[in-house]
This record gives sequence, C-alpha cells and structure tokens, in this order.
Amino acid sequence: MPLENSTNQAHYIEYLGIKALKSKHPGVRKIKRQQQGHSAHGNKVWRSSFVLMDYLTTYPPEEHSKVLDIGCGWGLTGLFLAKQYSAHVTGLDIDESVAPFFALQSEVNQCEMTFEARSFESLTSQELSTYQTIIGTDICFWDEMTTPLFIMLGLAIEAGVERIIIADPGRPPFWDLVDRCAEAYGAEVVTRRIYEPWKTEKYMLVIEK
Ligand SMILES: C[S@@+](CC[C@H](N)C(=O)[O-])C[C@H]1O[C@@H](n2cnc3c(N)ncnc32)[C@H](O)[C@@H]1O
Repeated sequence: MPLENSTNQAHYIEYLGIKALKSKHPGVRKIKRQQQGHSAHGNKVWRSSFVLMDYLTTYPPEEHSKVLDIGCGWGLTGLFLAKQYSAHVTGLDIDESVAPFFALQSEVNQCEMTFEARSFESLTSQELSTYQTIIGTDICFWDEMTTPLFIMLGLAIEAGVERIIIADPGRPPFWDLVDRCAEAYGAEVVTRRIYEPWKTEKYMLVIEK
C-alpha cells in the first residue's frame, strides 16, 4: 500500500467504524504541501462531525436513503452513513481544495460518496427534492452564512426533505439560524455529548417533517 494510503493507527482516529485522518497522515501532509498557501476552512475534520455521527447512531437514516452533506469538508459524517447505513450520500463543498482530502478519506475507509464542488446556495428545489436527509457540521460560522442557510433550508423543506440536522459548537450565527428556523420551520435544538475520542458537547439543529 502506498504511504499516502497509510492505515497506521497513529495517522487516524478510528470512531464508530470510520477512520478520520489526522494532519500527520502522510497522504494529508502530501496534499497540504501541494496546496501550500491555500487557506481553506475545510482544513481538517471538525469535532461536530463526531458528535453528529454519535447522534445518528441513535436516530439513524433508513438504509439506502439519499443524504446531502452540505459544506462536507473531508466528508467524515457522510462516509459514516454510506458505510454503516448504505446511504447514498452527496457531499457538497464550495471549496474544491477539500476534494483530495475527501478522496483520500473515502479511499482509506473503502467507501464511496459523491463529491460536488459548489455552494449550498446553488441548490435548486428540484435537486433538493431528491434527498430524504440533509446534514451539515460546523457550517454556520460567519454572520453572512445565516440568511443563505435559512433560505436553502426553507427550500429543502418545501421540496419535501424529511429531516435536516445541522451540528455546531454553538457560535452566534448558529444560534441566530436556530431562532429563525424554530420560528419558521418548527426546528428544535438537541445537546449531545460524546466522551470518545474526546469529551465534547455540541448542538444539533433538528427539523423533522
Ligand atoms: C468548518 S468546515 C466543516 C467541514 C466539515 N463539515 C466537518 O465538519 O469536518 C466548513 C466547510 O463549509 C464549507 N463551506 C463554507 N461556505 C459554504 C457554502 N456556501 N456552500 C458550501 N460549502 C461551504 C467550507 O469550504 C468548509 O469546508
């Protein structure tokens, strides 16, 4: 196996049957060297993904359902759903520089999901109508993101998406999104804590139809 695809345990965190690549993974280091100077936000797997994975073990999607992971970064949660629940997942990220990390993480986990380099703002109602579930982790970190997310989620609900779950560490723009979605779409917030691989607590905005 080439070094880039290392399955050396020091190079990843294994969680719920999925390997999350660490920055010292040789494949990750190689991609980062190639992308030197690029300031992507998707430069690691964010902790909210682990908490959402844990939440989804309690409330899993139906087998083979279609899931959209918005702002997927390296795609950890989507890969987990593809592997453990045979979900057909599309990961979407505005930053195409996350694509090689995403591809490497898919390869190391030997599971597949589709990746599209585009913004969630570009999703049409017709496209949204093909998904049962939308997930997102740590995707509401600037004030300017709240309104486009709120609008896109409204479009998704209208298009018939059955469940939306956005996990977040609790930044102010996320709470703004929560307030607006609670009023307009009946969203709820769930607090979820995990103890492995670290003790951490995150918040889930949940909309169910
Ligand atoms: C903090 S990272 C989280 C990545 C991943 N969800 C995780 O938890 O590991 C935020 C991601 O959202 C993406 N993003 C930001 N704005 C976006 C937009 N308008 N449409 C799609 N993706 C976006 C960024 O490129 C980045 O990869």
